Amino acid sequence: MRETTLAFILASLSTSCLADVEFLHWWTSKGESKALNVLEQHLLEHNIPLTHSPILGGGGDSAMTVLQARALAGNTPDIAQIEGPSIKAWDDVGIVHTINQTALEQNWDQNLYPLTIDINKTDNGYVALPITLHRLNWMWVNHSLLEKLELSVPKTWPEMFQAMEKAKQADLIPLAIGEQAWQVALLFESLVIANGGVDFYYKALVELQRDHIDTEQMRLALRQLRQISNLVATQHPNQNWDTATQALAENKALFQLGGDWILGDLLASDVKVPEQIGCYSAPQSHNAFLYNMDSFIFMAASDFTQQQATEVANALADKTFQAKFNQTKGSIPVRTDIDLTGFNPCQIQSHDDFIQATKNGLAVPSMTDSMAVNPVAQQAINSEIFRYYRSPEVTEDEVLKRIISIAKST
Ligand code: GAL
Repeated sequence: MRETTLAFILASLSTSCLADVEFLHWWTSKGESKALNVLEQHLLEHNIPLTHSPILGGGGDSAMTVLQARALAGNTPDIAQIEGPSIKAWDDVGIVHTINQTALEQNWDQNLYPLTIDINKTDNGYVALPITLHRLNWMWVNHSLLEKLELSVPKTWPEMFQAMEKAKQADLIPLAIGEQAWQVALLFESLVIANGGVDFYYKALVELQRDHIDTEQMRLALRQLRQISNLVATQHPNQNWDTATQALAENKALFQLGGDWILGDLLASDVKVPEQIGCYSAPQSHNAFLYNMDSFIFMAASDFTQQQATEVANALADKTFQAKFNQTKGSIPVRTDIDLTGFNPCQIQSHDDFIQATKNGLAVPSMTDSMAVNPVAQQAINSEIFRYYRSPEVTEDEVLKRIISIAKST
């Protein structure tokens, strides 16, 4: 065989033999889509074309329901976005590829944060590829409206309520929030930390210790949640989080409380952060770093082999790509060895706060955003909190009793 022909055949074999790789996720906002574009371009450079299967509904509840249905039908996507304890649950089902070869080549045991390893590694080794570390207890502040109202940045919830009252009197949206269970429950988490402190939050909502659920701290958090509900007229039923961010950016809303995926959307809309919209710890955060983490699992199937999964994982584990992806997404990298030059000041702050919080045992997983309890309990608790937020006739006693019975079932 002529040498050139052989060389040509070998060269074509060396490129990816991957047909389209199907990716199931819930990244559909402006900032999320921009980050997805970084991911898609990076994979294309590795001859790995991506087919998106986006599931509407931030937070991922709907996406996880679709993933379960597809697995039951024997029709899994190749890769799926996933968070927290679900990773181990899917590994236990036995339809997830390991990515230990990638982990070894990338030295993950040395250069991932310990909590990143805990979340993505099981007895089978690494079964998920970690990609973002989001901080959730952020308060996003519209500086021009704050100035117009002659207010300073609230440090406590009493100050927050005063500021929100003043905004409401000025016909502004006091707090931009999407009318969805996971967003309201996420707000409740910050109130529990504010009223009980980090250790109390962990015992009550991460460990679901029953003697921490019907307590004065939880009741105070519920009363404040009801106060917010009365203050914040329903903006748009079932409004997505990014529609709320739009209102903040367009000087219609004074505050938004939520994760730094909000930063990703602000940057994608060319909003100047922190000049126009500033990032601050949620009131009375007690130096907590409330986090969630996005990972990818690689679903074992006849048309997506271990070798193909390893090829895709090797490409996605690339440090330079991970840096660019996080910079666009608004999160911070999951690795300790990525330089943050060029990241937004809010991301630098997030990173520094994370390091401090980890040192002081104040980095805690978000229960409402899939990092702490099994998805059934999480979604049940989120919906009880949401029902209380939306329906004035639901009492504190009733919602706490229901959360206790959910805790008993876990
Ligand atoms: C979270 C996810 C983030 C962001 C957010 C809003 O669960 O970790 O990456 O997408 O939902 O959709």
